Formats: sequence, C-alpha cells, structure tokens
Amino acid sequence: MTMQHLPRTDATASTVLAHLSDPHLPLPAWISPAALLNKRLLGLLSWYTKRRARYRPETLQALVEDLKTQAPDWITVTGDLTNLGLESEYRAARRWLDQLASPERLMIVPGNHDASVRGAWERGAAHWEPFWRGDEHPAQAVGHDRVANAFPVLRKRGQLALIGLSTAIASPAGLAVGKVGEQQLARLSRLLGETREQGLFRVLLLHHPLVQGTVSHRKRLIDGAELQALLAHEGVELVIHGHGHVSHSKEVETRDGRAPVIGVPSASSVHDERAAYHLYRITRNMAGWELEVTARRAAAPGQGFETTTRRSLPITRAHGTLEADPRRSINA
Ligand SMILES: [Fe+2]
Repeated sequence: MTMQHLPRTDATASTVLAHLSDPHLPLPAWISPAALLNKRLLGLLSWYTKRRARYRPETLQALVEDLKTQAPDWITVTGDLTNLGLESEYRAARRWLDQLASPERLMIVPGNHDASVRGAWERGAAHWEPFWRGDEHPAQAVGHDRVANAFPVLRKRGQLALIGLSTAIASPAGLAVGKVGEQQLARLSRLLGETREQGLFRVLLLHHPLVQGTVSHRKRLIDGAELQALLAHEGVELVIHGHGHVSHSKEVETRDGRAPVIGVPSASSVHDERAAYHLYRITRNMAGWELEVTARRAAAPGQGFETTTRRSLPITRAHGTLEADPRRSINA
C-alpha cells in the first residue's frame, strides 16, 4: 500500500468510498455441458445473443484504471460479478478482485447472477471469502452454513460501518428476484443499533434496490418492504445497490433522519446507460455528515472516464456530530 492509499481514519477528515456494481465479467471459453442442464442454458443463450456485446471487458478495465487514479480509501462491489454463477467464473472473478485491491480495502456482496442456480453462491462463496467476510466471522460453521450464517457482515473502517447484506437467491427462469430473509433482518437490527451507538456512518450494501418500484416486479427484492421498515426503525446513513444497470437516487425516512438510497450502473456496460462508478466523500460536521456523490462515467469508446455529476447531500444526524464527541470513532 502506497502512502496515497493509506485510508484516512481520524475523526474530522473525509473518507472516500468507491462503489461499482454488476461488472458481469466475460464467460470462460469452455463450459462443461453438465453445468448447463438447468436454467443456465437460457443464461448462456442470452450471453451469446445479447449480453456479450453489452458488458465489455475493455470498458471495465478502463473503469478500474480510472478508479485507481482516484485512490479511494475503500471500494465496494455490489454483486453480479458473474453471469451464470459457474465455478470457473468464480475463479476468474477472484483473479479480477485480486488485481483491483486488497481484501482489507475491498468489500463485496453477491448478486442474483452469482446465485443463478441453487447452491451456486454457497459453493462459489469460498473463492471470494476474503472480500465479503466481516471483521468477525462464525468460526464453527462450515460449508453452506458458514455462508448462510455469515451475513449480514460488518466492517468498521474509521468513521464508517460497512454492512453487507446477501440478497442472492436462485429464482426460476425469467425472474431475478432477491431476498434478505428473517435471519439476516434480525441480525441487521442489532448491528444498526450498535453502530449507531458508536456514532458511525452506517453504509448498507446490497445488490437489489431497497425501494419498491425502482426496478420491475420480476427483479424486485421480495422482502424490501420489511427491510425498509427495519431501516426506518433502526436508522441508516446511506444505502447503495446495483442490479438495475442504471443510476437510481431515492431517499427513505428513518428514525435518525432521511437516508439516500443510491444505485450505480453496470461497471462494464456499453448499452443503455454507459458504465459508471460512484465516489462517496463522507465528512463529519456539526450537523452530522456531509455526503458528496461523484459519478465517474465512461466517455466515448476508448476515451476513458470523466466526472458527469457531483452533488452534495447533508445527512443530518444528532448522534454523528462533531459536537457529540469528535474522537469516539477513532480506532473504532
Ligand atoms: Fe442483478
């Protein structure tokens, strides 16, 4: 890690969090026919008829190069690294993650494509574990239970509490739904309460959009209403997601004040909305927090990335102010 990549962790400095999603890395050249005796066959047809032209590795590479010049403190990827959830895709995606950033700086959650058929995510998760695990991890559990019991995960990074949810479930052909489930909701409630008490800026990462109606019914988060009710009750400062492959900007009301819900386009798309990623600059102030959102988007082909929007959002929070206790989150 070079000096310029040293994350900023003191109480008054800004922290910069990068967010990208849905890179849909290219399929391997050869796929075992046995792996296609299910819904994946439709996915394979879709890849060769449409998706291969939409999600371009050279666009993703240009995004990564631009991201590295921006030197964010932390990086998040909100799912759909793969297309069919094949083990060979999991291995290729691991190589991509390794060259993006260290597991300490890079946190991911899975998407519906990573769980394309039953068991795909649970089997593949081990390949990515350093990048999705939290600061604490259930030591006893193994295999499927180890993955199922791991989420939500929590990483405390300076002033931030990065909380990752898994919404990745296998759904029938034609559907791309997600689900959080009661177990995760119960644990999330506790994590949000604890990190609120610690005065941290709580960022919730998930693949599917939180707010109903953001994407079509067949792509929805099945228990989104329950999750939104929980967030209203426990509070959160920022919710980030992917899945829609276009930019989304919503808000939800919580006990602590309004919280933005922000979706980022696909990191490799040359179709519809061009590839983009976000930089969230988070600064504590006397009213709570200032959140500056910058979108870096692919310019014309071969011309790199450029800033297309930058906006500042006040996140008013009584428990997060400098006045409350400027030093309490240091070394949290
Ligand atoms: Fe998705």
